[in-house]
Amino acid sequence: MIIAPSILAADFGHLAEAIDIINRSDAGWIHCDVMDGVFVHNISFGFPVIKSIQPIAQKPLDVHLMIVNPDRYIGEVRDCGAMMMNVHYEACTHLHRTIQSIHDAGMKAAVTLNPATPVMLLSDIITDVDMVLLMSVNPGFGGQSFIGHTVEKIRALKTMIEASGSRALIEVDGGINQTTAAIVADAGADIAVAGSSVFKAADPIAEIAALASV
Ligand code: DX5
Ligand code: ZN
Repeated sequence: MIIAPSILAADFGHLAEAIDIINRSDAGWIHCDVMDGVFVHNISFGFPVIKSIQPIAQKPLDVHLMIVNPDRYIGEVRDCGAMMMNVHYEACTHLHRTIQSIHDAGMKAAVTLNPATPVMLLSDIITDVDMVLLMSVNPGFGGQSFIGHTVEKIRALKTMIEASGSRALIEVDGGINQTTAAIVADAGADIAVAGSSVFKAADPIAEIAALASV
């Protein structure tokens, strides 16, 4: 599995050190959690912060927007050098148009589902997206426990992807540690986001290696 460490769990006073750790690790991507205090309670960081890490980041940026009306910010996310732009299904009234606009801006497009949003709602967009991000916690905070029902959603999504001929990847975000990483990998996840388990570990580089090899 590709591991995408979330810098939400890093020490923001030493963000360059967190990026350096990710650069030197087996991580595949860098996951950036943008929160607006409206779609979710928390406010994390915005585009100036992502722009400042982009020049030192040696792995692709996976930007997860927990904000209302994310289509307003497609240009800003592109200007941050993002490889992937994740928008929440629950935040997009015109999801098809938003996905097309992300592609027109030159980025890969992902749709993210909250834990209570069923996978079947993606049946008419699954061939248009590059990735589906399944939230395995309620978005807004790091350090929460993995919601077990996510495993059934991964399997249902995998079945939908295979039946439709879609090439969408499956990413899982929230409560990922070595135990839950093995469970989601077995269910068919391609990418796992990991915040607390990486940055609270005594040796984050070893932790990333362990997560990547479950
Ligand atoms: C939660 C964020 C996650 C978060 C995961 O709203 O989307 O990416 O950083 O943190 P952990 O791995 O601590 O659950
Ligand atoms: Zn996230």
